[in-house]
Amino acid sequence: MPTDKSLEKKRRAAQAAVPYIESGMLLGIGTGSTVNELIEVLKERKIQLRGAVSSSSQTSEKLKAARIPELDLNTTGDLPLYIDGADEADADGVLIKGGGAALTREKVVAAASKRFICIIDDSKLVPVLGRFPLPVEVIPMARSYVARQIVKLGGQPVWREGTVTDNGNPILDVHNLKITDPKALESALNQIAGVVTVGLFAWRRADILIVAGDSDVRVLDIGARG
Ligand code: 5RP
Repeated sequence: MPTDKSLEKKRRAAQAAVPYIESGMLLGIGTGSTVNELIEVLKERKIQLRGAVSSSSQTSEKLKAARIPELDLNTTGDLPLYIDGADEADADGVLIKGGGAALTREKVVAAASKRFICIIDDSKLVPVLGRFPLPVEVIPMARSYVARQIVKLGGQPVWREGTVTDNGNPILDVHNLKITDPKALESALNQIAGVVTVGLFAWRRADILIVAGDSDVRVLDIGARG
């Protein structure tokens, strides 16, 4: 359960993303408590969007409650902007996502977006990714096979029992990883037959990372670094 203080940081991270949102824009929207704060801010400030592409059934419900029209990615083409939270981030904008089990749709919407802004509180910013167990979505019949291959790569997979994604699949949370080469690990895991999506966002990382601390909000413009 987030403390009031952590929720307040999430709200401030969400508020700091608002200047990037233009009126009448088509927006991709992620999943989780930080993004829920963003949806609240959009509602409170009466920011008019052309519509939003949702990354989960959970976010679709929130959009409906906020009267923000939901659009189908198959009809929109690429999006100008995607905003989402993360479970862990490094200062290069590489992320671990999927704590809320929405990693596959999140990865698709991020891939289809020209700009990706990630909003987090400072507890999630780490020097080396891997303290947060890495979620991997797999097709049901491949669960044990994929787990054995992950052990060979040095990870400790734990089946997230009771969780089924919006796509009807189970999730393995991979513990004990110290992710020093995120692109290589993302590629290696993607090569395992039966893996649907790896919650490591290294090949498509965030372009802008907004990090809310106790008294400040930092904006790391990773895209501008070249
Ligand atoms: C969902 C995600 C979320 O972005 C991540 O879990 C962060 O959630 P929160 O904003 O609630 O901390 O990847 O699959």
